[in-house]
Amino acid sequence: MSELEGKRVFVTGSGAGIGKAIAALFTERGAKVVVSDMNADAAKQAADEIGAAGVANCDVTEEAQVQAAIQQAVDLLGGLDVLVNNAGIEVSSPLLQQSTESFDKIFAVNVRGTFVAMKAATPHLVESKGNIVNIASIAGIGGSPLLGSYCATKAAVIQLTRVAAVEMRPAGIRVNAVCPGFADTAMVERLVPDFEAATQVPFGDLVAAKQGRLGTPQDIAEVAAFLASDRATWITGSHYVLDGGLTASLV
Ligand SMILES: NC(=O)c1ccc[n+]([C@@H]2O[C@H](COP(=O)([O-])OP(=O)(O)OC[C@H]3O[C@@H](n4cnc5c(N)ncnc54)[C@H](O)[C@@H]3O)[C@@H](O)[C@H]2O)c1
Repeated sequence: MSELEGKRVFVTGSGAGIGKAIAALFTERGAKVVVSDMNADAAKQAADEIGAAGVANCDVTEEAQVQAAIQQAVDLLGGLDVLVNNAGIEVSSPLLQQSTESFDKIFAVNVRGTFVAMKAATPHLVESKGNIVNIASIAGIGGSPLLGSYCATKAAVIQLTRVAAVEMRPAGIRVNAVCPGFADTAMVERLVPDFEAATQVPFGDLVAAKQGRLGTPQDIAEVAAFLASDRATWITGSHYVLDGGLTASLV
């Protein structure tokens, strides 16, 4: 039997990048996945490409939209076994030069979006004894120039994961996080020019020295699939680092 056979899954921000790779791998492993994104065209295209079970879009900063999309997924799938909180944005700015509006925005997407989706999914996950996978980042573990507010949001996602795991353990719900290093998506492409300007080092050299190669969205989907599966039933409150050794290295 496939690892995720029959699992009913909702993935935020799955029209592109890591979320799309998660939706694709989960589908390949037997899950029934509802794709969700604030970009409706991207979500439809991804769902068609993947052969996903359906689409239920939301902007994760809008709580009513998140509640409605999760309900739509539950109605379509007949319940919910796995929520993947993947939707996230980056801001590239020296921390103390970032505008307060932009600081609030990144917290609204990365932190509050994760929180409201966990809340909306919980009653359904209680029924299924399901689980949650939050996509955090190594930026939640170490600091990086230009990524101050992003680092703070991802640290918050790791902490939400821990506390939700502890509080929901009696209900049989597991909650884990994945912390990738730099991976090959549009988000990193957008960051490269600012990183190169700030460090005066070609980004490819930095990646080669620190993490061997860029991660692929599939690398991350593999870990998410494991955590969501019944192979991981004793794992909760954890965060899994996959970064080619970047956070392990002092030099
Ligand atoms: N790419 C990396 O190197 C990397 C590393 C660590 C963690 N992450 C995290 O992985 C997740 C996915 O990143 P990615 O690189 O695939 O990004 P991406 O920008 O390539 O794709 C993000 C997707 O999320 C959607 N999205 C953005 N804001 C949204 C919102 N408010 N509501 C709903 N959908 C929204 C976008 O439309 C897009 O489809 C993010 O949480 C990111 O922080 C990425």
